[in-house]
Amino acid sequence: MAEYAIDMQNLTRNFKELTAVDNVSLTVEKGELFGLLGPNGAGKTTIINMLSTMLKPTSGTATVWGYDISSDPTNVRRSIGVVFQGNTLDDRLTGRENLDLHGRLYGMSKNLRHERMVEVLELVELSGRADDIVKTYSGGMMRRLEIARGLMHRPNLLFLDEPTLGLDPQTRNHIWDYIKRLNLKENITMVLTTHYMEEADNLCERIAIIDHGKIAALGTPAKLKAELGGDIISLTTATEDAAAGLLEVCKELDLVDEISISGNTIRITATSGERAIPQVLNAASKEDFPIESVNLRKPTLDDVFLYHTGRAIRESNVDEMDRMRFMMQSRRR
Ligand SMILES: Nc1ncnc2c1ncn2[C@@H]1O[C@H](COP(=O)(O)OP(=O)(O)OP(=O)(O)O)[C@@H](O)[C@H]1O
Ligand SMILES: [Mg+2]
Repeated sequence: MAEYAIDMQNLTRNFKELTAVDNVSLTVEKGELFGLLGPNGAGKTTIINMLSTMLKPTSGTATVWGYDISSDPTNVRRSIGVVFQGNTLDDRLTGRENLDLHGRLYGMSKNLRHERMVEVLELVELSGRADDIVKTYSGGMMRRLEIARGLMHRPNLLFLDEPTLGLDPQTRNHIWDYIKRLNLKENITMVLTTHYMEEADNLCERIAIIDHGKIAALGTPAKLKAELGGDIISLTTATEDAAAGLLEVCKELDLVDEISISGNTIRITATSGERAIPQVLNAASKEDFPIESVNLRKPTLDDVFLYHTGRAIRESNVDEMDRMRFMMQSRRR
């Protein structure tokens, strides 16, 4: 029996001059709910495509459920289910017909297909809508049907590429519940990609933060956040000059551990935010740098990303891109 669900060794994929996945080594345990978190273009889908044998690596190796992705792709495919980033359902068919088609592609007998369809439709609570045309489904229902389809041949491991892309927060929560339940109750190992911080934080036992094709950080969300060493204080001043001045002043304060600046906002890391704030405010007023707003919070995965990459994941304007992509997908449909 293979030790790991996934074992990647120096996996690399180039597209001409671009290195989309850069020498990634990573293992995923059996039974884990693992997340690949990173901004648009980080290389998440490329990793999934290689692991699911859709794409050949330029170099490096990987095993999935003990099978080598290059020399034993058939067994890899038997072990996995994939929910792709874009909608790949046929919306002119019913939910049941979509599932049946998938079962046929996997060479499942009629009886087996029927049995599994009942089972997976139940799992995602779509039994009542199974005979409706997919075109009449909501976005969340389509995603659930895709998850059901990925489970038809009872894989050990399910890849979910951006499972909640373009869905509203409520539907997203709903999908999270299914993913958790499938992982816990059905004991399916899950590897999902996302650029939603709160998704990775809520859902995943461990995450790898991917940036420019490399692993920037790896661990449980709690550990990654704890590594930042304390609370985060954001201070906004009226002008960038005032912020630059305040930065110099704050560097001297003993309760301030780390400090950075972006425009007219100063970001401070402090073991105790509650105690550091008065010290900072006193220093600011003494030097006459008026402060417009103060915010104290515990670190998020956004801060973890910023810490390891020097950029905010939001800077890529994710929501706008999501919306556009969702519209393009809808139009294609
Ligand atoms: N078939 C391809 N040909 C050329 N370049 C590609 C191809 N597929 C991906 N890339 C490039 O590789 C990089 C990684 O892309 P990938 O789709 O893996 O990113 P991602 O992390 O999944 O991003 P997103 O969050 O937008 O889905 C990007 O710069 C992308 O443009
Ligand atoms: Mg992707």
